Amino acid sequence: MGKFALVDTHTHLNDDKFSRQEAEVIARAQEAGVTRLINMGDTLASSEKAVELAASYDGVYAGVGIHPEEIYELGTADDEQLAAWTKCTRVVAIGEIGLDYYWEKDEEKRALQRRMFIHQLDLARQLHLPVCVHDREAHGDTMAILKKEGRGISGVMHCFSGSYEMAQELYQLGWYIGVDGPLTYKNAAKLPEIVARFPLERILVETDAPYLAPVPMRGKQNEPAFVRYVAEKVAEIKGIPVEKVAKQTSNNAEELYGI
Ligand code: NI
Repeated sequence: MGKFALVDTHTHLNDDKFSRQEAEVIARAQEAGVTRLINMGDTLASSEKAVELAASYDGVYAGVGIHPEEIYELGTADDEQLAAWTKCTRVVAIGEIGLDYYWEKDEEKRALQRRMFIHQLDLARQLHLPVCVHDREAHGDTMAILKKEGRGISGVMHCFSGSYEMAQELYQLGWYIGVDGPLTYKNAAKLPEIVARFPLERILVETDAPYLAPVPMRGKQNEPAFVRYVAEKVAEIKGIPVEKVAKQTSNNAEELYGI
């Protein structure tokens, strides 16, 4: 293994699938050179778990937020809880938040997702924190909301699945794109071409573990150690050494999340 360090900027060791295995998974990540990782929350319960993990392990950070698949009208109690957690050790983002029109087909519920998204963007602005955004088959509305309601907020479009034009718009907003296992898949479609053309200075590598394991681990339970396969694929596509990808994407994570 080459000498380079990586950051898995989006993972879910707070997921039940990792229950009671967190310490070994973190140890395996560190052995693989993944010296830092950020667990993102989807619900209040998983956000709390992410905060606990960040307090318990060096190099482990947390995002707190409510995912669009967990739809309900957010209230003051949610805001107060999320804000309180952001004062804890190594809590660096509001996330993951956003829109998911793949799983949600009902128009009223999609409208509720949009309200939740805007609500948490407002919270991030008040707390001076970056955001991690989930956008699945909702590119138009996600970008419209970011342009209108995202002023003063930086962030990443995690597990990027948009067009090159969308990536350019994000670049102009000062945002990052996150790439994961799907970059390594045979059916990756336009993503490799986007990664080839998009500046490395705005790319983050992530696993989204326990899902989306990259080739050659595809089909297994994903974990932060596997982010190296994503970084290696970025290096291969761009025709540059993986060490350079590791250094720049780590710098990017430091820049965005202040880690
Ligand atoms: Ni995720």
